[in-house]
Amino acid sequence: MYVLWIFLGLVTSHFTAVRADDIVVGCGGFVKSEVEINYSLIEIKLYTKQGSLKYQTDCAPINGYFMIPLYDKGDFILKIEPPLGWSFEPTSVDLRVDGQTDICTKGEDINFVFTGFSVLGQVLSKGQLLGPAGVEVNLRRAGAEASLQTVLTQPGGKYTFFKVLPGNYDITAAHASWTLEKSSTTVHVFNSNAPAAVPLVVGGYDVSGEVRSDGDPMKEVTFLLFSATVNQEDITGCSTAPVEGSLSVEDSLAYLCSVLSREDGTFTFPSLASGEYTVIPFYRGERITFDVAPSRMEFKVEHNSLKLEAVGLNTLIMQRLLKDWVLISRLHILPTLTQSQCFAPQVQNRGVFWDSDSI
Ligand SMILES: *[C@@H]1O[C@H](CO)[C@@H](O)[C@H](O)[C@H]1NC(C)=O
Repeated sequence: MYVLWIFLGLVTSHFTAVRADDIVVGCGGFVKSEVEINYSLIEIKLYTKQGSLKYQTDCAPINGYFMIPLYDKGDFILKIEPPLGWSFEPTSVDLRVDGQTDICTKGEDINFVFTGFSVLGQVLSKGQLLGPAGVEVNLRRAGAEASLQTVLTQPGGKYTFFKVLPGNYDITAAHASWTLEKSSTTVHVFNSNAPAAVPLVVGGYDVSGEVRSDGDPMKEVTFLLFSATVNQEDITGCSTAPVEGSLSVEDSLAYLCSVLSREDGTFTFPSLASGEYTVIPFYRGERITFDVAPSRMEFKVEHNSLKLEAVGLNTLIMQRLLKDWVLISRLHILPTLTQSQCFAPQVQNRGVFWDSDSI
């Protein structure tokens, strides 16, 4: 009996202590939207400051009304949890419930306003299931000039526009150095997230490199491009005319095109579709073909521009050239030369080339 009294005493004092904080208020309001949305898909959740879920409720399907009962004072976070891709302002509200001045106790509405659905799409690399990051994609009202939103594609090529209200839109993509084979599409947004009508397609990526001799740029070195898998119609911006002076390459490689290095030694294949390539540098005077190192390079275009390692005419090759010269002179291929037409490799710009007029 004595023990029971102590127990009851403890219980009573405990309840008395709690009663000071004890309140019953309702935190209510509306999910509002100017366009038709399905309110039943939206949940309103009350979390403690520490992030544990305290209460959750659906919205009324007709008008988006919600009401959450609260029995304690304290700090809470009220969050709207809509289907993925639906946007609201605000997304959460901090509540400091003191039982006197807070928004719940005062019976004011807490409103969440719908700001739009998501539009999802992808930019692909031609012939691939994935695409590049970093393509600029624009959303405009159908037929309008002004851009509503610009986003960049993520790795893999996906893009998302948030906060898009129902309507018809045009989507266009652009990139500073990549060729877009399919650069525009459309989307119709009705009462949920919407996919773009078709994927956009990057036709090709720029591949560049440079050639130097002892650190100085070499111009007019030819770079011949081959591939076992990519066709000539999947590349643009380089010369498809055959280059004189045939090179022997394995039968599996088809010749695609060529470019020349510029004054500053750089060269660029402006638009190559994703795939594997072999490039062979080729430098030729009127009668003598020079070797360039490395003699060939294999590379793979995926979903990005590519910079090839530097190509060079180096000391080793100079030695090789001198050896060739000795060979040629021994074979008496040379016409008789006068003293002034001395046959020798000339060194200009510290790059090596043969003065073919003197041969
Ligand atoms: C709203 O969503 C619920 C739950 O998915 C579904 O049962 C109901 O048919 C939807 N209402 C409308 C009008 O689409």
